[in-house]
Amino acid sequence: MRKRTFLKNLLALGVTASPGTNSFGQLLSRFEHIPPAQLASNEDFWAGIRAGYKLKPDYINLENGFYCFVPQETLENLIGHVREVNYQGSWYMRNERKGNKAATTARLAELGGCSPEEVVITRNATESLDLIITGIHWKEGDEAVMAEQDYGAMLNQFKLAAKRYGVVNKVVSVPNLPQSDEEIVALYSAAITPKTRLLMISHMINITGQILPVRKICDMAHSKGVQVLVDGAHAFAHFQFNLPDLNCDYYGTSLHKWLSTPLGAGLLYVKKGNAEHVWPLLAQGERDPNDIHRLNHIGTYPAYTDLAISDAIDYHHAIGGKRKEERLRYLQTYWTSKVRDIPGVIVNTPEDPARHCGIGNVGIEGLKPADFAKILMEKYKIFTVAIDGSNVHGCRISPNLYTTLDELDVLVKACKELAKA
Ligand SMILES: Cc1ncc(COP(=O)(O)O)c(C=O)c1O
Repeated sequence: MRKRTFLKNLLALGVTASPGTNSFGQLLSRFEHIPPAQLASNEDFWAGIRAGYKLKPDYINLENGFYCFVPQETLENLIGHVREVNYQGSWYMRNERKGNKAATTARLAELGGCSPEEVVITRNATESLDLIITGIHWKEGDEAVMAEQDYGAMLNQFKLAAKRYGVVNKVVSVPNLPQSDEEIVALYSAAITPKTRLLMISHMINITGQILPVRKICDMAHSKGVQVLVDGAHAFAHFQFNLPDLNCDYYGTSLHKWLSTPLGAGLLYVKKGNAEHVWPLLAQGERDPNDIHRLNHIGTYPAYTDLAISDAIDYHHAIGGKRKEERLRYLQTYWTSKVRDIPGVIVNTPEDPARHCGIGNVGIEGLKPADFAKILMEKYKIFTVAIDGSNVHGCRISPNLYTTLDELDVLVKACKELAKA
């Protein structure tokens, strides 16, 4: 646990500041000798993790892709931080906030394997990514490349850039079940022309859970002098990687998704030397053009979020990033392997472990995704989201660490029964 004056205050108030001192800590030490791949299928351990969440009894929640609500430990810490920041008032903002935010930023940078000078805390992936899409020094006729499977808000931001700056958008379509990395690299490569300035790719496609070969795409784009913005909304703290290894120029993610921070937290990574290529959204005073903080003037904000992000990092490390990744992948392959070969069931997520992790997508032949989602909710008490566009027709299935195999068995049963109907 990191030492911070602020947390000492919380401890004095009797608020637990970090995992490791209670039954959660006992659970972790009981299972610490088990390697991640083996622990992925240890239901006793994951039942212990589930006990740390307050779950609604009304339905099985397989819609964690929107955001991963926080475990009780993080929630209680957040409430403590809200009380304390409110108690300290402006004194906190003037004396403690900056140092605490810098400490949290440094921890996020460590999690992403990059330098703290390359990272700022934002409110979400939308803010991080749209800041870059709008901030690039566009000239009329410059081209941008993206995929129809990218997130709608970013595609809209590119449409806005087209209206505002005359950017020409080239939209490719990524196959749901690609044969090779080269197939995807070639797809993006073919859309690049001498006028292309920026390529945006999803690290994990949100509607299917497909992981793209980001490094190979970035290397290809750079060989043609094109910068790459990566939408990592579903990748960061979901599966393990180091940001510099991706060789991208910009990376945006939400932290309230797979890092399980409270709502309203995101991260923007700008590779050293790139900040000067971007206009800020909100003006900051004069700074070094390559200081990433130029891009991060946000005014007064809910500063307790910075502290809760740190708690979420504690929780993430306590479980272990690799263990989390292995469990999430295990859960997805548990149910997809049971339905993939059933006639009438269409799994829209690749089978290759390098191309997937916790999120999957399944459709039923002849059943509209909206009707499928409705039946799942009404008959089987499973909450999902219907996806019906961009060549993907099915329900997105996004379990979380608290999901049990029994819950996934209900999904498997539903798919089998509906495919037969
Ligand atoms: C791929 C992708 N990018 C960006 C976003 C936007 O995230 P947020 O609403 O947290 O800004 C989402 C949200 O689901 C997403 O799935």
